[in-house]
Order: sequence, then structure tokens, then C-alpha cells
Amino acid sequence: MAILDEMNEVFREKFGAADTHAYFSPGRVNLIGEHTDYNGGHVFPCAISLGTYALVAPRTDGVSRLYSMNLPEQGVVEFPMHGAVKTDAYGWANYPIGVVRMMADAGHAAAHGFDILFYGNLPNGAGLSSSASIEVLMAVILNDELGLGIDMVELVKLAQKAENIFVGMNCGIMDQFAVGMGKKDCAILLDCNTLAYRYSKLDLKGCSIVITNTNKAHSLVTSAYNERRMQSEAALKALQKVMAIKSLGELTNAEFDENAAVIEDEVERRRARHAVYENRRTLEAVEALEKNDVKRFGALMNDSHVSLRDDYEVTGPELDTLAELAWQQEGVLGSRMTGGGFAGCTVSIVRDEAIPSFEKNVAEAYTAKIGYAPSFYVANIADGARRL
Ligand code: GLA
Repeated sequence: MAILDEMNEVFREKFGAADTHAYFSPGRVNLIGEHTDYNGGHVFPCAISLGTYALVAPRTDGVSRLYSMNLPEQGVVEFPMHGAVKTDAYGWANYPIGVVRMMADAGHAAAHGFDILFYGNLPNGAGLSSSASIEVLMAVILNDELGLGIDMVELVKLAQKAENIFVGMNCGIMDQFAVGMGKKDCAILLDCNTLAYRYSKLDLKGCSIVITNTNKAHSLVTSAYNERRMQSEAALKALQKVMAIKSLGELTNAEFDENAAVIEDEVERRRARHAVYENRRTLEAVEALEKNDVKRFGALMNDSHVSLRDDYEVTGPELDTLAELAWQQEGVLGSRMTGGGFAGCTVSIVRDEAIPSFEKNVAEAYTAKIGYAPSFYVANIADGARRL
């Protein structure tokens, strides 16, 4: 692979000659089921062929050195394998360092460090899980290099813990799960309450999954995300006064509607309505897809976007513009924002023959309205994180 040759060269330059092992971890795109994971609902993501590569060589001391070819200005980041704490100067490296720390705290301390070179071809902060990609990558590296024998679902949980506790983003399990457990040509139907999951073969009947990046710079996403989570939890608490439930994901739409009035705060009520309806919509969408009804699946994707826009309020003008433009195009079966929202990407199901006109028309109209151009990626659905 040309990319690995280039990485080997940079590795020698930064760390000196060594026998290296290569690893890869994908990004993910979620097809439907947004902001349902931490509400005890279902999600339907898949891993994609874009992701993060690493070259790894063991060291003999207790220090690790990390270098990212994507962020050369940060130089080589050095940290101790024992007791590292989150530090601003670590920058991007807080993600892998957090994983080292969480694994050590869980009893999987490393006796020595590593030199690791990273290179990613996922757009950063675009809602395609570049952070989960690098977290799960680090967990897989430690598991493999140290011969720990931990299964992938446990690694996924440790990676999520690194993001929650070390980095401070209170995310659900979807991203790390999709990145770790992804399977070629399949989406994963995951029940985030129980972690029960199954693969669903994606046969889109002459259509492809097109990811469109708003190219909007990320800002304040973590605080807005954590706020949504708190509002949903407050709504759940109110419902628990009249119903014996542990999560919003347990409710049908009708059960929610009958009891919604106990949620006094109007904003919290809308947040909960999204969580409940989106969960049910996800189950219906998967059923439709498995009956080869791609059209119905697409219509439910559109409904998902509207609910994220109006009830959950995590879209914004850039994502709304992309979705609305997509809905107007010939050959588009469905389109919605994907990931945490506010910025990042939409995901659309587009007939193969319509992709060129879709890209051209959406790019022109989006640029005219927003002032800069979007980018497009036709997704290849790929396997999860692994040693190469
Ligand atoms: C981010 C989080 C996920 C999930 C999505 C929204 O990607 O990391 O856990 O909550 O937002 O569905």
C-alpha cells in the first residue's frame, strides 16, 4: 500500500529505524438512529473505508512517543505509560493517551511504551468519528502488542470510557462500537440498552451512500452535545414519576404521547419526543430495508432529519441547506444529517446514475447560499479496526 510506504519513511525520520506493525481503524457513518444511543435506543451505523492508519514499534522504557502526519505542527508528543493525565499540550494525542490510561486503570497496564505514527484520511471533526477511530485503534494496538486477549466489545467500551472520562465528551457507545465491530457491506443494528446487535447486509438496489461534508468548522459541539444529553435525562426523570422505565428507548410513540404532559419543560419534552420517535423510526427503517423497500427507508431518513432539526435542534443552516437541497434532487431516496450534528456531514441514498448531477447541483446551490463549497464521498462500507 502506497500510504504504508510513505508512513514507513516518515516513521524512520521521526523515530529511527525499527520493525513496525501496521494497523487500521475505520470511521463510521450512521444511516439512522441519531441521539438515541445514550437514550437507550437503537442505532444503525456502518464502518467506512476511510479511517486512521498506525505504524507501531515497541520501546524498552516506560515512555511512548506519538506523531500524527495530519498535524505535523504539533510535533512528537511524548507521555508516560503510567499515570498520564489530560493536558492541553497533548492536543489530539489526548484521545490515544486516554485509552492507555483507561486500559491501565482497568488492570491492563503496559510494561513498556511504543513509538506510533498515525495518518488519517477521514476529514477531522466532520462527524465521521475521527476521534472514535483513533481511540479504538489505540485499544486494538495495546491489545495486540501486549497480547491481552480482550474481546472487541470490551475494547469498544474502554475506548468510549476514554472519551467520556479522559477527554470529557459524554458520548454514547455508537461510534466506538461501529468502528470496532464494523463489517464489510453491512450496517449494524445495535440496541444501545443491552448491546445486543446484528449485522444487516446492505443491498441498496442500484443506489449508493453519499456523504456530504458541510465543511463548517466545529465549534462548541461538546457543550451543546452534553446539554442535549442532560435535557433528555431530565425528561426521563419526569416520566419516571408516572412510568416504570429505565430509558426513553423502552417507550412506543403512543406511550410517550399519552404521558408526555408530565414533562413540564417544553424543550425537554421535545428532546424526549425525538429520542422516542427516532428509536421507533430506526426499527421501522431497518425492517423496510430488509424487505428491500429502499424508498421507505429513505423517507424515514428524511423524517429523522426533520425531527433532529425541530425537536432536538442539532442541525443548523449548513446541515439544513444540504438536506433540503438533496431532497430536491432527482434520484435521491433520502437524506439526513449524520453524527452529533451542528456541523459535519449529511448522509444521502442516491441512485448511482444520479450521483454526478447530485454533486454538481448541491455543490452549486450550497456554495451560493453558504459561501463555501461542500465535499462529497461515496462511502465504501468496510470492516472494523484490525492489524493489517
Ligand atoms: C456523536 C456521539 C454518539 C452519538 C451521536 C449522535 O457521534 O459520539 O455517541 O450520540 O453523536 O447520534
